[in-house]
Amino acid sequence: KSDIPVVFHWLPIIGSAIEYGNNPLKFFLSCQEKYGDVFTFVLFGRHVTVALGAKGNNFVLGGKSTAFGAEEAYQHLTTPVFGKDVVYDVPNHVFMEQKKFIKVGLTTDNFRKYVDMIVEEVEAFLENDPAFEVYQTGDTTKWGQFDPLEALADITILTASRTLQGKEIRSSLDKSFSKLYSDLDGGFTPVNFLFPNLPLENYRKRDVAQRKMSEFYVDIIRKRKEGKQHEDDMISALMSQEYRSGSPLRDHEVAHLMIALLMAGQHTSSITSTWALLNMAAKPGFVEALYKEQVQYFGTADGKFRSLTYEELRALPLLDATIRETLRLHPPIHSIMRYVREDVPIPPTFAAPSKDGSYVVPKGNYVLASPLVSQMDPKVWKKPSEWDPYRWSDPEGAAAQALKTYVDGNGEKIDFGFGAVSKGTESPYQPFGAGRHRCVGEQFAYLQLGTILATLVRKIEMRIPTGVPENNYHTMITMPKNPRHIHYRRRVS
Ligand code: HEM
Repeated sequence: KSDIPVVFHWLPIIGSAIEYGNNPLKFFLSCQEKYGDVFTFVLFGRHVTVALGAKGNNFVLGGKSTAFGAEEAYQHLTTPVFGKDVVYDVPNHVFMEQKKFIKVGLTTDNFRKYVDMIVEEVEAFLENDPAFEVYQTGDTTKWGQFDPLEALADITILTASRTLQGKEIRSSLDKSFSKLYSDLDGGFTPVNFLFPNLPLENYRKRDVAQRKMSEFYVDIIRKRKEGKQHEDDMISALMSQEYRSGSPLRDHEVAHLMIALLMAGQHTSSITSTWALLNMAAKPGFVEALYKEQVQYFGTADGKFRSLTYEELRALPLLDATIRETLRLHPPIHSIMRYVREDVPIPPTFAAPSKDGSYVVPKGNYVLASPLVSQMDPKVWKKPSEWDPYRWSDPEGAAAQALKTYVDGNGEKIDFGFGAVSKGTESPYQPFGAGRHRCVGEQFAYLQLGTILATLVRKIEMRIPTGVPENNYHTMITMPKNPRHIHYRRRVS
């Protein structure tokens, strides 16, 4: 047994926080070169053991819950925002039951209904938002500009509330709810992750907003209980569920799960569609290929389009590859963390100090898997820093090969189609995580992203003369830096 190498640092408590915070990819790659796939760095007094590559992902995400806890790693950030008694505020076996309840609200029947609703919201946004003023004139020769980060943040919350969140939330979006949302969101930052309780203004606002938002949902739930009307949304799905013990979810638990879903889906989805559009706009030829795909599948004889359907949307190879490739190059969650509850040996087949030695991650450390590093690994992916959706359609290509080893490694067949759900944990491609904490929102995210992108492709041409922007890693979820305005022109049809 020997010690895992510790990343050299000058500042005792702060450790490598600055290098990690500024650019985790660069930091991890330079550590990997010096120390290999397993090393420990100091992050504000915490000892974080990083496990890189597909085997590292497997080590962290496939670990037992008795050994690795997500609760201790995330609850400082999530409990003040989501509220008590849900997600990481409860033991994992309780949250696993709550995840099952959430799945009840994510049925194919609901997804089928959501497609039209999302299209309507996107079309209404183009028709009404000031950023699309040029579009609204109907002029198909003039170019306008929009900030994709802003536009897609709005479109994402509008479409999520129209579908999953329910009509009461959608109709409140133009009023009080948006302010509460933005105050709550202001408390969802890396600073909150590291220092849960500072006497800061944005923490105070976060706490007030959490209470008010919780009351807002509880009020909706009570009104629904009084009335006879039945809605097919997540609130009603959650209200109908019972724990194995026989007790139903309490009103505040439904409310807090709804807030958790809102927060979990908002930035991840909006940032993914933002990066997708930025990369698409930098390759106008590719946008045209996506447009042709729409024409091929949905074009009508009079040069118009018929409505998208959920089933057909799932089968569009280029659109699917666009989302998949965007999530490879820009996974919204670049670091997945767990707290180490007991000493955990690292399998020597993954990493060892010498032929006869072995590493043990000590209790009290954190472990970290980085989908970003494995999804950019040049040993796996050809030209990893290039955004190339076509890599997903080449059966002999690196992407297919990487996924093949994943399937073989786990001995189970995995369908990598649109929004596929896989259970294996040893893969270089894991934008939705893996194992017991795997994302429940993947199918919904694919549906939402696919519908938004397809609708935009049908309506506008895109360019970005300043090129694809750089990453800003200082936010919870990696954002594009400025300049990032996309130039657009209304299509003729
Ligand atoms: C978990 C990514 C959209 C709800 C996760 C995890 C990742 C992830 C990486 C695993 C975290 C961990 O293991 O620590 C994404 C991406 C999305 C997305 C890339 C969009 C592109 C959504 C949406 C929802 C959602 C739309 C809700 C409707 C959740 C929930 C968990 C989760 C509830 C469970 C956490 C757990 O079991 O610990 N997501 N997500 N996500 N996500 Fe998502």
